[in-house]
Amino acid sequence: MTARIIDGVAVARQVKDEAAAAVAELKTRGITPGLAVVIVGDNAASQIYVRNKVRTAQELGLLSELVALPASTTQAELMATIARLNAAPEIHGFMVQMPLPAHLDDKAVIEAINPLKDVDGFHRENVGALMLNQPGLRPCTPAGVMRLLATAQVPVKGAHAVIVGRSNIVGKPMAMLLLHAGATVTICHSQTRDLPGFTRQADILVAALGRARFVTGDMVKPGAAVIDVGINRGADGKLCGDVDFDSVRVVAGALTPVPGGVGPMTVAMLIGNAIAAAGRGS
Ligand code: GUN
Repeated sequence: MTARIIDGVAVARQVKDEAAAAVAELKTRGITPGLAVVIVGDNAASQIYVRNKVRTAQELGLLSELVALPASTTQAELMATIARLNAAPEIHGFMVQMPLPAHLDDKAVIEAINPLKDVDGFHRENVGALMLNQPGLRPCTPAGVMRLLATAQVPVKGAHAVIVGRSNIVGKPMAMLLLHAGATVTICHSQTRDLPGFTRQADILVAALGRARFVTGDMVKPGAAVIDVGINRGADGKLCGDVDFDSVRVVAGALTPVPGGVGPMTVAMLIGNAIAAAGRGS
């Protein structure tokens, strides 16, 4: 078997086209959705992600603000920035790029964000809403994965979904979204005994552990849909995912590439959240 490659760039294009139409509609009502992205310090990967978010928002007609703060920013200064954005009427949503420099308290930062403007879906109010399957802003990467699965017509209801990774950003919210969509969900992590024994049972396998090419073909059930959330630099210096593309491609039924799979979806869903936040406020 050779896996069908799920084209994240094409699906993200659809989501962005919908976003542009929604922005145009909001503008007819006198609302320009506003998104701010906060970055602290000079993490090279974060800078690339953040620039991409700001540029995409601009391209789709949103008001887009980049707040770039030096690595020496104090907790009080960062909290003051959050307070300003919470109060800014032209900013409907904002996010603080993680990871923060080690001297800053990321939990306090997330809790300080107005949940109605929390376009990352990281605030405990939005996390609780997700858990209860109530309306709220959903984390962008897991929401993007759901959209990829839907567009690629991967059946979720009744499927066994196995997630490798238990982060607050991906693994845990991914589990909730799949559960609410009718999957039977297993979350695996670094302490899981016999990880391949679990991954080989997966109809849908989501790799979100942050280790280059960790999931190999022998860990995958023939025909499974494999979603690669990782972005790593391999030993060869090349950008790669958490999935060993070459060995998994000949076993899986469907597979997302890196780059060009989940990554573009994260940005598109962020814009979608900002538009949702703007629309709700009107
Ligand atoms: N770092 C890696 N992914 C994300 C994300 O989705 N949001 C934020 N804020 N930081 C991240």
